[in-house]
Amino acid sequence: MKILAFETSCDDTSIALFEDERLIAMSTASQIKIHNKTGWVVPEVASREHANAIFDVLQEVLDEGDVALQDIDYIGVTTHPGLIPSLLTGITVASTISHSLKIPILSINHIEAHIFSNFLERKESEIEFPLVCLTVSGGHNEIYHMSDMWTREKLGGTQDDSAGEAFDKVAKMMGLEYPGWPVVSKLADEYKGVSSKLFPRSYLNKSQFNFSFSGLKSAVKREVDKRWKLFLQDKQEISYEFQAAVNEVLCYKIIEAAKQKWVETVLLAGGVSANDDLRARISEASKENGFTFFCPTKKVYCMDNAAMIWILMYYRVKYGQFEKRIGTVWIEKW
Ligand code: KG4
Ligand code: ZN
Repeated sequence: MKILAFETSCDDTSIALFEDERLIAMSTASQIKIHNKTGWVVPEVASREHANAIFDVLQEVLDEGDVALQDIDYIGVTTHPGLIPSLLTGITVASTISHSLKIPILSINHIEAHIFSNFLERKESEIEFPLVCLTVSGGHNEIYHMSDMWTREKLGGTQDDSAGEAFDKVAKMMGLEYPGWPVVSKLADEYKGVSSKLFPRSYLNKSQFNFSFSGLKSAVKREVDKRWKLFLQDKQEISYEFQAAVNEVLCYKIIEAAKQKWVETVLLAGGVSANDDLRARISEASKENGFTFFCPTKKVYCMDNAAMIWILMYYRVKYGQFEKRIGTVWIEKW
């Protein structure tokens, strides 16, 4: 069974081709250089870049796999959530191929695909349900309880910004070039001082699972303004204190969710799962509580990528969790 998967929800044009469980080819065109000029992703610009890149990326994947479009059994495409102009590029191309060649197409939810990225490097039986999952990236910050692959309950989410968005904005406040989040975590790791808990921990209600990071963002802004000129040491300290304030809360909430829901498996997914400090904290806390912790081991699978679209499709097809559609995709309930 050959599956072609498209992911264009933000600023990566990613297409992957799988045969059964084997990755044949994956290609991702990054727009980092383009967005570097503005310092953030402008949706119209991102959409134009997707349109410019998508056929080259597709051709590359087909050439590498030595596969013709006619040989594809299923197509999958991210339909939501994401930047609408970006999503539309992937949806239009995927739907057109589906329509013209009569290939069934599946609508894939981006957040669900991030959760499923945990299955990319593991056997299905390794991840035991029920479980709780924290998905956290630039656009979302939520905790789910999953009693099985297809039954989810949202336990909480952000009331304002996601943790990823806070990382992005703090990088910008300190004058770091886009994308600044890897630099923030690098600077944080370089900090040699002791923690002074410079910034507030926003737990909201400690027994619930909602988040808020806008107050923390404002606190960092005040600190940056107060210091007026940031030397390397200031950047390291602010990054360290900021990262600790975010990760302490994320770690506390996911562990608390696992305790309250009496589950033994904890998953982390989304772009922020690439953060080493967060991975280490949740891994440690899971060990202390006797939970089994999983996150994507390869960082490429933490960030937006078409392989995660494929893995969700793979299990949907395997368990009959899809409607046979040709040509049009639809927005699933989430
Ligand atoms: O999932 P993703 O690729 O795109 C969205 O769905 O938003 O996540 C990208 C986001 C970045 O904007 C950044 O906020 C966050 O993931 N991120 C990180 C790290 N790597 C990516 N945040 C903290 N530390 C990192 N190492
Ligand atoms: Zn994402």
